[in-house]
Amino acid sequence: MEYKEPFGVKLDFESGIIENAKKLVRKLSDMKGYYVDEEAYEKLLKEDPIIYEVYAVEQEEKDGDLNFATTVLYPGKVGSEFFMTKGHYHSKADRAEVYFALKGKGGMLLQTPEGEARWIPMEPGTIVYVPPYWAHRTINTGDEPFIFLALYPADAGHDYGTIKEKGFSKIVVEENGEVVVKDNPKWTE
Ligand code: 6PG
Ligand code: NI
Repeated sequence: MEYKEPFGVKLDFESGIIENAKKLVRKLSDMKGYYVDEEAYEKLLKEDPIIYEVYAVEQEEKDGDLNFATTVLYPGKVGSEFFMTKGHYHSKADRAEVYFALKGKGGMLLQTPEGEARWIPMEPGTIVYVPPYWAHRTINTGDEPFIFLALYPADAGHDYGTIKEKGFSKIVVEENGEVVVKDNPKWTE
């Protein structure tokens, strides 16, 4: 039997950076079609801000192994809609996940393949259980970076296609200074 070598790595709670992790950057230009207000999207595209960064420590896609990653989701809005991640189902749809909020303020939008949505607010210390089959997207509703750690099966994979095409049935916007979860006007069954 060939055993893998155990290891410990350092996560910096302030920046969300995990040492030696693989870094992924998502800018606004990577998210065409994701936000409801297309005019506001085009306008902000001139600045093309970074929406989020992911620091991932991943293993080979094998059954039984685990990956983990932090996400640093920046504050901001496209029109009235808060900055958010793309959101995805897992390619192996029955793979669950756990999120642990470290810094800032936000929440998670989850959705079943039938379009049934849930909103779970998150603040430092909140642990979110993402059950098998639920799509998940995180949203920064605060004014500082929203940072969290995610732990997921190494063979889960990411299926972005459905969400890219259809979005979530709910959107999270600011209305009169309040965080409001409301029906996505572009949603079709
Ligand atoms: C995962 C996690 C998480 C997620 C990031 C970025 O399955 O890897 O859910 O690490 O990938 O928060 O969000 P998107 O993958 O939706 O862009
Ligand atoms: Ni996931």
